[in-house]
Amino acid sequence: MSDAGGSGLRAAHKPTRRVARMPEPGALVGDHYLLGPDIGRGGVGIVFEARDQRTDTPVALKILLPEVLDKDTIVERFRREARLASTLVHPNTVRIEGYGVHGDSPDTLGLPFIAMELLSGEDLEARLDRKIKLPTEEALTLARQTLESLAEAHAKGIIHRDIKPQNIFLVTQPDGTNRVKVLDFGIAKVVSLDGEEEPSRFESLTETGLVCGTPQFMAPEQAEGRRDLTPAVDVYNLACVLFRMITGDLLFQGTTPYEVAYQHVMAPLPPFPPELDNPLGDVLKNALTKIPEDRIPDAAALIIALDDAARQMGMTPAPSTTPPPPPDLELPRPLSAPPTAPKPQPWGLWLGLAVIAAVIAASILAVLVWFFALR
Ligand SMILES: Nc1ncnc2c1ncn2[C@@H]1O[C@H](COP(=O)(O)OP(=O)(O)OP(=O)(O)O)[C@@H](O)[C@H]1O
Ligand SMILES: [Mg+2]
Repeated sequence: MSDAGGSGLRAAHKPTRRVARMPEPGALVGDHYLLGPDIGRGGVGIVFEARDQRTDTPVALKILLPEVLDKDTIVERFRREARLASTLVHPNTVRIEGYGVHGDSPDTLGLPFIAMELLSGEDLEARLDRKIKLPTEEALTLARQTLESLAEAHAKGIIHRDIKPQNIFLVTQPDGTNRVKVLDFGIAKVVSLDGEEEPSRFESLTETGLVCGTPQFMAPEQAEGRRDLTPAVDVYNLACVLFRMITGDLLFQGTTPYEVAYQHVMAPLPPFPPELDNPLGDVLKNALTKIPEDRIPDAAALIIALDDAARQMGMTPAPSTTPPPPPDLELPRPLSAPPTAPKPQPWGLWLGLAVIAAVIAASILAVLVWFFALR
């Protein structure tokens, strides 16, 4: 992965530099990405279709909006997105090709961009806008694929912290089915390494009006601005998304972001509709526990819990999408494996032959004795 201007990203903290303008389709970005039309817009950037001229392959470029560049946390968030996301290789995670800064110079502050694989399909938000709710089995399959992406991240000490329908992309497969690609490990952090000050998403939202969209999928500890976030945050966020997929409703509604966030922290869960009066509803209730320490702890544990619930409800759990580890990474044989049969020892063979020979000799002797006794 290339960092075509990491120093420029750090320089974003200087307010005196004039900020570069958003490039237009046809512009060359990062020396080799030829910009095409824009295909999506989020809180902090625009996503364009582009072509990598070195390889003549299509890519998606997410370029940070000039107006957010004075927000230090957002620039840092973008840099972190690129660096962390590039270490994730799960097939349900969008592949990051490179990152850099467009138009950076001594007197101009460049626009950070990230290059990723270009996906075709739609995000889950667009799907739910059209379909309102999904059959339980389909919802569980999409949740399972999202969780498999998250499980790889959690195993590497990375939490996503912004699982919402807009960040769950549904790639259309040739057979008409969908494959999830999780986008935007953008505000993820390495749990063990990150001690930096960073406002909670709720604080960011109210402060700038730009960061992270709505708080509808926010965990209570995020709304409270806790710094010691754990993978249980992603469990809560995903449970809110699954609730929405199955019921068609948001877990909590309100007229302001404050009202929604307040309910995530303080309000009891609303009564679940009949389609969740089952083992799946019980798993969701656990995943939506307010206290993170009492919640299903991470994506791998939630996969197991959802599979169990599916079996109890007579459904076949969705298949795993995680590839097996390469042969050189195969784990040693577990200690509980049955012992293999011991090899026969050579002395055992000779002893056996001697016994057989003795039996034959004794039989011949007995026949001879009997023969001479008759005479
Ligand atoms: N690699 C990609 N290939 C194709 N389309 C993409 C790709 N990445 C993003 N998009 C589209 O662009 C849209 C905007 O993405 P973006 O991440 O900028 O916004 P967001 O998730 O709504 O908000 P936020 O800024 O909080 O992440 C996505 O919802 C998706 O539809
Ligand atoms: Mg996004």
